[in-house]
Amino acid sequence: MTPPSTGSTRTAAGPPAGRTGTGGPTVRPVDRPRRLRTTPAMRSLLSEHRLHPRDLVLPMFVKEGASEPVALGSMPGVLQHSMDSLRRAATEAAEAGIGGVMLFGVPEVRDAVGSCATDPDGILNAGLRALVEEVGDAVVVMSDLCLDEFTDHGHCGVLDDAGRVDNDATLVRYQDMALAQAATGAHMLGLSGMMDGQVAAVREVLDRDGYTDTSVLAYSAKYSSAFYGPFRDAVESTLQGDRRTYQMDPANRREGLREATLDLAEGADVVMVKPAMSYLDVLADVAEVSPVPVAAYQVSGEYAMIEAAAANGWIDRRRAIEESVLGVRRAGADFILTYWATELAGWLR
Ligand code: PBG
Repeated sequence: MTPPSTGSTRTAAGPPAGRTGTGGPTVRPVDRPRRLRTTPAMRSLLSEHRLHPRDLVLPMFVKEGASEPVALGSMPGVLQHSMDSLRRAATEAAEAGIGGVMLFGVPEVRDAVGSCATDPDGILNAGLRALVEEVGDAVVVMSDLCLDEFTDHGHCGVLDDAGRVDNDATLVRYQDMALAQAATGAHMLGLSGMMDGQVAAVREVLDRDGYTDTSVLAYSAKYSSAFYGPFRDAVESTLQGDRRTYQMDPANRREGLREATLDLAEGADVVMVKPAMSYLDVLADVAEVSPVPVAAYQVSGEYAMIEAAAANGWIDRRRAIEESVLGVRRAGADFILTYWATELAGWLR
């Protein structure tokens, strides 16, 4: 009988194995994990994690006043949609079997308080209504709930007299934004502004006004990241400076767990870690303790890097995409926001 594995390398004495290229081994391992990698069928049976189209969410951009979709130089293959092309692309995504879409709006006019965000006919709310109508029965329609696309200064909240982001005044704006988004029929609101108390503030007004079924996806551990660069082109960001007083310091792991724990206590239905690839440890920490589903956002810079390297012939594009998304799943994400959602879903089917 073979003794139970000890986890350390064991060897057995005995005659040399028959087929060797070097005239016979001098060492014969007893534990041979490679046995489980011998054939494609073996590898497939024993793979620990799989991707499924349903686990993917497609982030989309809709641009006010656009009659045609606009290509984005820093994100090849990603478009700022017109209302028509938004509907078409969402239908294509739904037909590919993905689980959800997440919408960002690009307004024509911005002001200090981000008025467009709370206008029922503002570009984001109009786009959400179109998505709910077009694909709302097939996929989860998610919104971005944040002011940065709508403020002329580009910050995620409103500013006080000293020009600092005013946390508590911003919460009131988020509450109004949440009600406007819930009224569109959006199923899940994505709170991405990193203001303290934002989940509780939004949950309170949703419940007060009868939107008890509208769920909250909390961007809990959202880091101040260089990997958002291409996204800022996509939403034509006007930001001067940075977001370091509200988004997290990339050095902090413990704090990621703290942010997620606070959002859970405030009533988050899903918690998220963002970006994905550089924060897999934080994702694993959150997934370990979260009683609710955990999401991760493979952000614009992660997309752009792989596209750029693949375009240069430096990496195998499809394998790199699959591996990058699978790695996020393995680290603990129940679902993943990725700009490749539709294409990847097509490969997985
Ligand atoms: C803020 C928001 C950002 C992203 C999603 N929501 C940008 C930021 O915080 O500066 C980035 C997404 C990406 O890079 O793909 N509303």
